[in-house]
Amino acid sequence: MKKVIVVDYGSQYSRLITRRIRENEVYAEVAFPDDEVDLSNVAAVVLSGGPRSVYEEGAPGFPRWLESFEGKVLAICYGMQLVVKEYGGEVIRGREEYGRTIVELSEDPIFEDIPKKVSVWMSHGDEVAKLPEGFHPIAVSETGVIAGATDGKKYWLLQFHPEVHHTEYGDKIISNFLFKVCGLERNWRIEDLVEEKVKQVKETIGEEKAIIALSGGVDSSVTAVLVHRAIGKRLVCVFVDHGLLRKNEREEVEEVFRAHFDMNLVVVDARKRFLEKLKGVTDPETKRKIIGEEFIRVFEEEARKHGVRFLVQGTIYSDVIESAASGKTTAKIKSHHNVGGLPEKMDLKLVEPVRDLFKDEVRRVGEYLGIPERILRRHPFPGPGLAVRILGEVTEEKLAILREADHIFVETLRKHGYYDKVWQAFAVLLPVRSVGVKGDSRVYEYVIALRAVNSVEGMTADWSRLPHELLDEAARRITREVKGVGRVVYDITSKPPATIEWE
Ligand code: XMP
Repeated sequence: MKKVIVVDYGSQYSRLITRRIRENEVYAEVAFPDDEVDLSNVAAVVLSGGPRSVYEEGAPGFPRWLESFEGKVLAICYGMQLVVKEYGGEVIRGREEYGRTIVELSEDPIFEDIPKKVSVWMSHGDEVAKLPEGFHPIAVSETGVIAGATDGKKYWLLQFHPEVHHTEYGDKIISNFLFKVCGLERNWRIEDLVEEKVKQVKETIGEEKAIIALSGGVDSSVTAVLVHRAIGKRLVCVFVDHGLLRKNEREEVEEVFRAHFDMNLVVVDARKRFLEKLKGVTDPETKRKIIGEEFIRVFEEEARKHGVRFLVQGTIYSDVIESAASGKTTAKIKSHHNVGGLPEKMDLKLVEPVRDLFKDEVRRVGEYLGIPERILRRHPFPGPGLAVRILGEVTEEKLAILREADHIFVETLRKHGYYDKVWQAFAVLLPVRSVGVKGDSRVYEYVIALRAVNSVEGMTADWSRLPHELLDEAARRITREVKGVGRVVYDITSKPPATIEWE
């Protein structure tokens, strides 16, 4: 299968480019400028935009391996400027241009079946003053900036972003590049992909046994069902009930994976162990650390019992790119405990069948495998569970209260059709008591905070503008039905400066 490499120069849009290409049923993956790239199956390369200026000290450069590359290259924004500089053209600190601009397009395969004037999304400080020899402009903006150019052989350059929705015919430009310029074929379909992956897993694991920590979240569920399809009950699925789960969570997992899929599901009741360890602990990072370590211990015990040789993990593509990128750019805010980073010392071989898929692709694989919607559309839930949604010390009493309140909030969201419209929503228990009046008497009870956010993969988030009637109904039900709660508040902070979870 031929693939496209998208070189990420740090633009917030590089992943979007990868997605747009995959939506055209062509396989694409991200590389970083200084990666070694194996060109054997690479049919085309895209150089993304980036926040730097090509003349800035330390700005990422032109990939050397691209010189010997014989396919076609689409270079966007920063990518365009890199190519121009590399081949002897001139890039200057120009007029800054952000947002919508009208460009006039010339005749070229990349603009086939597109009107001559379109509105596009620009975001650049530098601009091309002179093209290298052999290049000619194919798009000019209304302000006179060279918005597109080509040498007609190897390079197609765009100053604007075809991958964002604000660019009219952006999808068409991308598909023209793939099919008209590069002559690629659509050959990356979910069903073929699943069958191929099942075959690979069979070959890798052979007659051995494998183990997976199944949380019931999208990634681990899809991975488990896929591997189950390959090796059946030789896949041991371990669900750890650490006592920090939401209402009915364990029962749902049992219902779907044991009853419906007939999988080898081991449910470990470790509630006592975890609560014991968490007694008196109030610091969020300490809680995470304790839960993470205890989880690994429980999991290791199970792995030993079953004599497994392989560890299956639901790592997905954004985890892979994020950890590659985070070494370089981002600071650590919270130590996210996931099953990721599990036991090197266990001496198990790692199998990560959906490592190259984006979340929405993982969902499509799940649909194809017949996994119910309520699992595939489930909001993200942190590994440490309700422990980071009870501020301060975790106790059974508080867990019981939070579980009920959270359940009511989620039910209300579903009833009003908002569950699928928000990215994540949940209740938080604040360890303070507030005065209220119930019936004729004064009460002094806990406060529940409701949180709902819209987000792109949790990196940033905006609080959801939920209808007042919905919030009203949730607050009434919670204060009426959950003993110990006297007040409900709604969190209206975005991320940043707040994080999505309260701890
Ligand atoms: P924050 O709170 O950092 O959350 O804005 C971003 C996303 O990550 C989830 N989250 C976690 N997930 N272990 C996890 O597996 C954790 O310790 C953890 N902390 C936060 C959070 O639910 C949100 O989706």
